[in-house]
Amino acid sequence: MNKQQAQQHVNELRELINQYGHEYYVLDNPSVPDSEYDRKMQELLKLEEEFPELITADSPSQRIGGEPLDAFQKVQHNVAMMSLGNAFNENDLRNFARRANEGTDERISFVCELKIDGLAVSLTYENGKFVRGATRGDGTTGEDITSNLRTVRSIPLSIREENTIEVRGEAFMPHKSFLKLNEQREENGDDPFANPRNAAAGSLRQLDPKIAASRNLDIFLYGVGEWQTGTLESHSERLDYLQELGFKTNPEWRRCDTIDDVIDYVKYWEGKRPDLNYEIDGIVVKVDNLDQQEELGFTAKNPRWAIAYKFPAEEVITTLREIELSVGRTGVVTPTAVLEPVRVAGTTVQRASLHNEDLIRERDIRLGDTVVIKKAGDIIPEVLRAVEEKRTGDEKEFFMPEECPACGSELVRLEEEVALRCINPNCPAQLKEGLIHFVSRDAMNIDGLGEKVISQLFREELIHTIADLYRLERDDLLQLERMGEKSTSNLLQAIDASRENSLERLLFGLGIRFVGSKAARTLASHFETMESLQQAAFEDITAINEMGEKMADSIVRYFAEDEVKQLLYELDELGLNMEYKGPKAQDVEEDTAFSGKTVVLTGKMEHFTRSEAKALVEQLGGSVTGSVSKNTDILIAGEDAGSKMDKAEQLGVAVWSEQQLREVLDG
Ligand code: IVH
Repeated sequence: MNKQQAQQHVNELRELINQYGHEYYVLDNPSVPDSEYDRKMQELLKLEEEFPELITADSPSQRIGGEPLDAFQKVQHNVAMMSLGNAFNENDLRNFARRANEGTDERISFVCELKIDGLAVSLTYENGKFVRGATRGDGTTGEDITSNLRTVRSIPLSIREENTIEVRGEAFMPHKSFLKLNEQREENGDDPFANPRNAAAGSLRQLDPKIAASRNLDIFLYGVGEWQTGTLESHSERLDYLQELGFKTNPEWRRCDTIDDVIDYVKYWEGKRPDLNYEIDGIVVKVDNLDQQEELGFTAKNPRWAIAYKFPAEEVITTLREIELSVGRTGVVTPTAVLEPVRVAGTTVQRASLHNEDLIRERDIRLGDTVVIKKAGDIIPEVLRAVEEKRTGDEKEFFMPEECPACGSELVRLEEEVALRCINPNCPAQLKEGLIHFVSRDAMNIDGLGEKVISQLFREELIHTIADLYRLERDDLLQLERMGEKSTSNLLQAIDASRENSLERLLFGLGIRFVGSKAARTLASHFETMESLQQAAFEDITAINEMGEKMADSIVRYFAEDEVKQLLYELDELGLNMEYKGPKAQDVEEDTAFSGKTVVLTGKMEHFTRSEAKALVEQLGGSVTGSVSKNTDILIAGEDAGSKMDKAEQLGVAVWSEQQLREVLDG
């Protein structure tokens, strides 16, 4: 056989193997016996051995290729991978539907999907080839796990779509594979995985792709990220298109025209859940129409056009052994229940927060009680109540101490608060918790500095304040337990890199009360440097649209503290960046037709997409909202504007045409 003939034969074999694979792994409906598939694969392997130059990355023989990695590369998600807000009952779902209806012109239809309990991943295809697979990470930066995802048989290595597309879905481990894997692990003396989600995540985070390949992972695709192709109008059309391209979509999705239909779907699956051969933890409800999705937009964290209904948590009974006290970042002293270990919703639980003394009184929970626990949102364990019938009389009432368990200073109960606080700013427990927050993902994002290492650093007195983190040296770290050469240099590098972080990360990391990550970003983009924020007066802060008085008050007080001044001085000296590096608020022009105005967009425009128009209005200082209300200043109406137009007229809101918008933009 000459090379040309070989090439042709190789092509034919690949096409056939891909087809068989698709039928087997994606459609679950093989047309040939396994032996036939194996025969074709052997044939292909032989030819590729003979003509190695014909091997391509998307050949079905190349799923498990490549050497183990040293570390995962970071991947930037150009379109953020958001998570969903939660609904826990029918009422939450009805509220979601009501808000969605209020935020759009037309009637809304929904798509309901099973909420697969696995790991969100993104798959990118360029010129029809699978080129990159990544984890969600923090939503903006994930990890490159391409070689692991290539081993997932239901992920096509090539598709018939030339444009670059990024599809998203949930990688998971089916129950059968999970049980088999845990059996094996126990036989080998390894710890079993707590649940299929951990098993899937653990498998995909292995540096050696052979391990992932041995784990029988699967995937359902449910959405898109970057999408430079076609003009589909609805989520359901997208699901159909994904399926057409050869992706595995979950067949149980339904389009529902009313929220009552959605609720029926939810109830149906609540009952049917145990029959599935993979784990689901709820139902995802999405607005079907893509224009409506865009109109509804996003909050800081979640889309407004979708919600995750979480199945109610499982409840179990166990014994309350003792109550431990911990001191949080802001000095709040929290009682934690130490429980007889018990399995609930897939993991073993031995601790649960009791929040505060009032709650313990209210629920009449006593030391030694038999208690009912569940996992709120299936994640955080909670003690619901004591089982009074089981009391023997030996149970003891619990009282909060008067002194801080960490530093011994007197605890105070601030006005209108149920919590007891330690107000000693040098309390070691608070400093430690503050540092844990400082290095966390949304703050300074310092990898490799977990709670254990931080505890050790404090215990060994290598650290007393945040600034000390930037004074750590190699030898300091090497003396800690479990810190080898490699993790030490990685950690030092991560600490060093964090010096360059944009201002908002530092601001959030400082842990100023009421200043969340979103507020930190707004502050950073307005004030641009730490110095000008430090000098800002209460009014300068409340002058910013989204900043309330409580937040402004807290910020001004914070920067007035001597300890804070000292800390910021030291951080500056230690080379931390104190400037904002993102898009500037000042790029927003002042004194335009839109400054300070609330604008609503509706209808189809000839010259702009909805998001372009939105960006332009925002650049001119306006804020764009989804629905017309008495607070709306201007409604910009394109063609076929519907009910928003009527509402604007009713309320006497100014209505502009697209032409008027263009005139303003042209200046
Ligand atoms: S849609 C912006 N659909 O649930 C919308 N998510 O917080 C992105 N998940 O991170 C998510 N099944 O890991 C969507 N059918 C489904 C899903 C699903 C599972 C996960 C996903 C996401 C989380 C929601």
